[in-house]
Amino acid sequence: MADTQHSPVYSANLSYVSPKPESPWGTYLAQVDRVLPYMGDLARWSGTLLRPKRVLIVDVPIQLDSGEIAHFEGYRVQHSLSRGPGKGGVRYHPDVTLEEVMALSAWMTVKNAAVNLPFGGAKGGIRLDPKMLSNQELERVTRRYTSEIGIIIGPQRDIPAPDVNTNAQTMAWMMDTYSANVGATTTGVVTGKPISLGGSLGRVKATGRGVFVTGREAMRRLKIPMEGARVAIQGFGNVGANAAELFAHSGAKVVAVQDHGGGVFNSNGLDVAALTEHVLTHGSVAGFSGGEILGLEDFWGADVDVIIPAALEGQITERRAERLRAKLVLEAANGPTVPGADDILASRGITVLPDVICNSGGVIVSYFEWVQDFSSFFWSEEEINLRLDKIITGALHHIWATCEKYNFSLRTGAFVVACERILQARNERGLYP
Ligand SMILES: NC(=O)c1ccc[n+]([C@@H]2O[C@H](COP(=O)([O-])OP(=O)(O)OC[C@H]3O[C@@H](n4cnc5c(N)ncnc54)[C@H](O)[C@@H]3O)[C@@H](O)[C@H]2O)c1
Repeated sequence: MADTQHSPVYSANLSYVSPKPESPWGTYLAQVDRVLPYMGDLARWSGTLLRPKRVLIVDVPIQLDSGEIAHFEGYRVQHSLSRGPGKGGVRYHPDVTLEEVMALSAWMTVKNAAVNLPFGGAKGGIRLDPKMLSNQELERVTRRYTSEIGIIIGPQRDIPAPDVNTNAQTMAWMMDTYSANVGATTTGVVTGKPISLGGSLGRVKATGRGVFVTGREAMRRLKIPMEGARVAIQGFGNVGANAAELFAHSGAKVVAVQDHGGGVFNSNGLDVAALTEHVLTHGSVAGFSGGEILGLEDFWGADVDVIIPAALEGQITERRAERLRAKLVLEAANGPTVPGADDILASRGITVLPDVICNSGGVIVSYFEWVQDFSSFFWSEEEINLRLDKIITGALHHIWATCEKYNFSLRTGAFVVACERILQARNERGLYP
């Protein structure tokens, strides 16, 4: 499936960021640029997509265990609230920037609309290396950050969730801090919480499960048999490890895994359970005895059927796209493919299942958690998984049919479906005053 290439026409020229074509916000703008020509009269609202509605930059000061005072840069960006409250994760990483958080929040807007959840898009982050902080310091930074962004979050306004380097414990601290500040236990202010605090069954594994369910469907359509399919995964955290487990359980062979510490390869398939144990103990896949060492760039040239980037943005560059041997890319991470690489993959006949649908399992079950918290009535894991499968496969079928009808790539098709919904909502709401 191919779509027309357009040179960037639509740009908001914001004074506070300087995106490059391959940077996250630059990538997002290029993706939107490709779909605005298909928006008809709704394109008059294109500014809604090209600029965030609200950006909050906060200083997060804490006292370190040593007694020193440290300051961290924190962000919460609400890209769009047209279709409902903001929704999106919080990332802790030393490379977090405003531009990255803007792009991640915009991708949340598109993702929530692509799978038709009643949310806008938001994202947050703190520029820090969690490995350099103690657990107590991380708790203090999380609580202070939550207080600082407390003026714009809330169960009806914007609902954070975990992302890279944050987890259920982080969400428990956020929920507790927000609740203390408003004087009432407010479980619905964040999702991805521990089960005992209003979390949802199935949430921890939901993103990996969604990657597997959409991947299985794409493989069926592309006639790639699951049994014996060779799979490579970059990132073996929450998303990568859970997806690996489901693929291995269904007869595929996870032959290559790479994370921040290194790469491992086994042509007979890595023992995913043993690798998970190894990562729990050693913090990385490096040094795993059940496979050979795999070099950084060799990972991208591995002889596989399916490749799953499940780490950070911008990983599939143009150079790596030329080397890829997979037939299918499952974008478990957000924004892992730069636009130039997208074109190369399309010309090489490699199908890319875009992030906005492929990794939407997490936000879908976050939506279920939010609904359960409001009604204080909780569903079984079986019910949750069934509803997740129904929503995500339904969305994928709709997007796939749109692509076949108009000869779009899956990314353009997903963006067309999503952007139409976002702009339609903006159009119906109108402007105030
Ligand atoms: N957690 C969710 O529910 C969720 C939902 C949707 C999308 N995502 C996206 O999935 C991706 C992974 O999120 P996660 O929650 O699994 O995070 P995580 O922190 O649990 O795991 C991140 C993984 O990426 C690896 N990694 C980091 N830097 C790397 C590098 N330079 N090279 C190779 N590997 C590297 C880490 O070693 C780790 O294995 C992110 O892009 C995130 O935005 C997560």
